[in-house]
Amino acid sequence: MTTARLAEQRGWQLYLVGGAVRDLLLAPEDRLLIQDIDLVVDGFHRAADTAAGVELAKDLQRTCLEARLQVHGRFQTAALLWHDDPQLGSLWIDIATARTEFYPYPAANPEVEASSIRQDLYRRDFTVNAMAIRLTAPRSGELLDFFGGLLDLQLRQIRVLHTNSFIEDPTRIFRAVRFAVRLGFQIDPQTEGYIRHAIASGIYQRVQAEVDRTPALQTRLKQELKYILQAPYWKAAIQLLSDLDALQCIYPSLQLGDRWKQLRLADRWLTRFDPAGSLEHWQILLEVLLMALDPADRGKVAENLQLAADSIQRLQQLDQVEAALADLPDCQRPSQVVQRLRQYDWPTLLLVAIASPRSIRKIIWRYRTTWSQVKAPLDGNDLKALGYKPGQQFKEILETLLLATLDGVVGDRDQALAFLAKHFPQ
Ligand code: CTP
Repeated sequence: MTTARLAEQRGWQLYLVGGAVRDLLLAPEDRLLIQDIDLVVDGFHRAADTAAGVELAKDLQRTCLEARLQVHGRFQTAALLWHDDPQLGSLWIDIATARTEFYPYPAANPEVEASSIRQDLYRRDFTVNAMAIRLTAPRSGELLDFFGGLLDLQLRQIRVLHTNSFIEDPTRIFRAVRFAVRLGFQIDPQTEGYIRHAIASGIYQRVQAEVDRTPALQTRLKQELKYILQAPYWKAAIQLLSDLDALQCIYPSLQLGDRWKQLRLADRWLTRFDPAGSLEHWQILLEVLLMALDPADRGKVAENLQLAADSIQRLQQLDQVEAALADLPDCQRPSQVVQRLRQYDWPTLLLVAIASPRSIRKIIWRYRTTWSQVKAPLDGNDLKALGYKPGQQFKEILETLLLATLDGVVGDRDQALAFLAKHFPQ
């Protein structure tokens, strides 16, 4: 409310907009935690100064010194951030100046110009996201619903505001799916028609042709994929994207096909081996999806999506690693498997396991669950105590001992001592 008072002092109107309004209207009474608040400033009966949002954020920061201020000049927005605040927890408030976005060519970065709140709402994606609540007097608390958002909330449907919405911004296809699945809504049939039309019009080719002019589009696409793949509902969302043929937005030949089995498998392995989530699970699931592409295209698509360098590299090399490990089932002893596999990091092995026949997958599983954990009964300190001299030979002894342990030749300390006396007499 402090923010509303500060806006009133400046003669501006302030609105709560977007997802927070939607979630507020959907939430059961008194039970809503909003950590991401979007505010829009507008003038009275005229457009506000272009920098009003930034000015207001600065005013607010002067009264809340603990908040961090970020200003994004090009889009006339500012953000105030509270991180682990004792009272507020983590909170993110975006303050923008009311604006329309017009797209100078499809899939471009939005250009900005000052305008009124109605136009600001009109440029948004879906009716349920295009409502506002006025926070300033007079009529504070009033809901502004120009496009039937409230009715669509009641009908539980995702409906787009204009025909060209998906052509202007193809990432909205992913957003439509994300909101539909997350909220348990349907995509309204006409909106689905617009999605199919946008896809049939060859969105990917156009986006690629303009990739240098629209890097922000790829960033947003990656962000949407991340949101989807790290959400608990990702399976339903991927299925719906596939049903809509929307995976083509990533690459024309990308199809789910038998990828399901592999995605589920990857999910199970990630949950089993990395329950704490130290790996980026969403990214690995995306890699599994991109494995459906021709090996020659995988790296390029990953680069276009601006995936992390290790992810791009894995996709580029997967084919070679797979070929190099094709004869893994010929290994007679665990020590041979360990010597073959330990040069690869775990995410690479995971992808190979997912992509390979069961016989190879079983060996990688054994490696991961058992053989990679095996330790020799003696370590470097023991060798020193026994009088061996640290140096090159040390490494060789420890390695030989480990391999012998893996193969069951050495089982305990006494056997290890006997093994040393035989093979490395002093
Ligand atoms: N928006 C849009 N088109 C996009 C991205 C965003 O029109 N491609 C608009 C939507 O109106 C959305 C608002 O910008 O409500 C804020 O975007 P974001 O924070 O991504 O959406 P939320 O609705 O807040 O989603 P969430 O609840 O997942 O944070």
